[in-house]
Amino acid sequence: MILFHLLVSFSLLQTCLTQDDDNFNLYSNHKMYHIQGSKDGMDKLMDFLMRNHELPYHSNTPKGCHMLVAPSLVPVVEYIAQTEGLTTNVVLDDFSELIRNEKNNRQYNDGFSWTAYYDVDDIYGYLHNMSLKHPDWAQVVVGGRTYEGRQILGLRINTPTDEDKPVMFIESGIHAREWITPATTTYFINELLTSPDPEIISMRDQFDWHIFPTVNPDGYHYSYTRDRMWRKTRSRSQNGCYGADPNRNWDYNWMNYSSSNNPCNYQLYAGSKPFSEIETRTLSEYISGLENMLGYIAYHSTAQTLLLPYSDSSEHVDNYDDLKKIGETSLRYGYAVNKARYDGPGTAAEILYKASGGSIDWVRHTQGTPLVYVYELRGVYFSWPPSRIHEQGDEVTQMMVGLVKEARNLGYV
Ligand SMILES: *[C@@H]1O[C@H](CO)[C@@H](O)[C@H](O)[C@H]1NC(C)=O
Ligand SMILES: *[C@@H]1O[C@H](CO)[C@@H](O)[C@H](O)[C@H]1NC(C)=O
Ligand SMILES: [Zn+2]
Repeated sequence: MILFHLLVSFSLLQTCLTQDDDNFNLYSNHKMYHIQGSKDGMDKLMDFLMRNHELPYHSNTPKGCHMLVAPSLVPVVEYIAQTEGLTTNVVLDDFSELIRNEKNNRQYNDGFSWTAYYDVDDIYGYLHNMSLKHPDWAQVVVGGRTYEGRQILGLRINTPTDEDKPVMFIESGIHAREWITPATTTYFINELLTSPDPEIISMRDQFDWHIFPTVNPDGYHYSYTRDRMWRKTRSRSQNGCYGADPNRNWDYNWMNYSSSNNPCNYQLYAGSKPFSEIETRTLSEYISGLENMLGYIAYHSTAQTLLLPYSDSSEHVDNYDDLKKIGETSLRYGYAVNKARYDGPGTAAEILYKASGGSIDWVRHTQGTPLVYVYELRGVYFSWPPSRIHEQGDEVTQMMVGLVKEARNLGYV
């Protein structure tokens, strides 16, 4: 009898899981490898893999390469590693287990919360609800359009005053799989709207905020429902592959570093030309239309780093020293929350690697915006437990408080 019950519950569980979970099945038994060895050997392995297959995740650091390997590719990876004398370590045996928990909390929540990850429609529903709740100073704004016909929606928070305020722009979720960024961004919105903390209230009141939790909603929806590791947009290329990396597609030094011209490249295809993607093109038009933009802040994950422009050059912008000082204060405020230490602040070229065609470089170059930052939030392989979203939400809120505080000290506001 007990066995029978167990069997019935087990099959019910299975039915529940399968509805929503192509996503997890897709990565079942995928292994996360850490591989080290000679540059020559590593290049051979990467060349082989990139030429013949989609690699849903790989990242290179001086200490070696992490890559996510499908079960069918394990033998060939092991074979090449052996012949090239590379050292392989399997750091995760089944990647799907890491991402399986991410949606578990969803069903226990009543309405919107910060203990679960939500799809685009819910995030947009939250923005709408907030604009209805605070009609005098919160309004839904359309930052652009997407390939699949969505709007890029944001919330403008602008409490009434007599004079014009400087604009503070927040761009989040440009990389679809960086789920913690939309979640943290709506958390931050909630803090601006509801916190009784005088520092947060004064930060809110000082700016005309334009906050976009997911500027790549097609990609995010695809990552949420089909392929957890999806990063790009969902435009269709002539050869049948999908998407371009929207943070390689902006019209500044396009294609120069860390960019691919192969539409099938899973991570770094820069698009067929600058602003080939409707998302970046329309968003850039929205940004150009903003007067008096003081700050442009982009949230990414999961390098746990604070980056300054330019991303593809180690030359320093004219207010580099100020940016560095403001960034340091921001990180100190963030650190006080969870004792999590970020790298930086510094340019991507100096801390991570050079990358061209990103939004912050275009913004800094064409708009001359004084305060431009990328916050790379925390996590492991783009994953972060939903039950702990509030940790990064509070951390980022305090980072923003620190940023504003030091910007005031230095006379930017
Ligand atoms: C928005 O408000 C409506 C009406 O109160 C509610 O039913 C819905 O769940 C809310 N949506 C979100 C995403 O909070
Ligand atoms: C593009 O990259 C090349 C090769 O590193 C470099 O020589 C050139 O100056 C770069 N161009 C721009 C516009 O940054
Ligand atoms: Zn990113």
